Amino acid sequence: MDKTKAVKIAVIGGSGLYKFDHLTPIKEIYPETPWGYPSSKIVIVEDSRGSQIAFLSRHGAGHKYNPSEVPSRANIAALKHIGVEVIIAFSAVGSLREEIKHQDFVLPDQIIDRTKGIRPSTYFESGIVAHTTFADPFCSSLAEIIYSHRHCLGTNITLHHNKTLVCIEGPAFSTRAESHLYRSWGCDVINMSALPEAKLAKEAEISYQMICMSTDYDCWKQDEESVSVEVVVSNLNKNAENAKKLFEEILPDLEKA
Ligand code: ADE
Repeated sequence: MDKTKAVKIAVIGGSGLYKFDHLTPIKEIYPETPWGYPSSKIVIVEDSRGSQIAFLSRHGAGHKYNPSEVPSRANIAALKHIGVEVIIAFSAVGSLREEIKHQDFVLPDQIIDRTKGIRPSTYFESGIVAHTTFADPFCSSLAEIIYSHRHCLGTNITLHHNKTLVCIEGPAFSTRAESHLYRSWGCDVINMSALPEAKLAKEAEISYQMICMSTDYDCWKQDEESVSVEVVVSNLNKNAENAKKLFEEILPDLEKA
């Protein structure tokens, strides 16, 4: 078995998605980068076509990093170091739209940054001066590939595309007034994890698309329980199999891309 093949594709798993058990693990690596160690060991798995895929758990083993603490610079640098060109990042999100139901999937194409500037979010500092274009934070070609496989999710689950995500600092969820404000801004989904990950992937010139899994209606919807960790986890657990199914479907196309 060739253990030194290029690893072109990486998956960053979010809450509830800690591994892909249908793919065979080949090895684990834990490279130290100039920005420290990644949030977890990177598991290299092999699919039935012999391609190797890197899997990294965003929140680390036992979910030890809250969204503000995730070492995103080390994560992206470690994936770049092993040759990764494409990242598919999974994340739980709250829905800010009636039509984005629990367990639906969402492909955002825009982000509004409501993090507080406390997360290290660039490689371009300390004498390295550069400015990345970030008008389109996600990769539209990856989004198209993923969207073309939406029917594998069946008729009960919708994959929404071209949506706007608002990324908040957390760890507290939003107030009701904030939730209404984000809706009035045109935001469709909300999470705490898209930034700085998407920005750093752009700086590292890695194609990046987030696949969001809707777990709750945040706190704007009158007839719904407000978001809580219990609601998020319960819907994520129901959704993990669908996430895996979707990834399995898109993988052959990612390998060709
Ligand atoms: N992740 C899942 N649901 C969320 C919400 N409502 N707000 C922020 N992050 C979330």
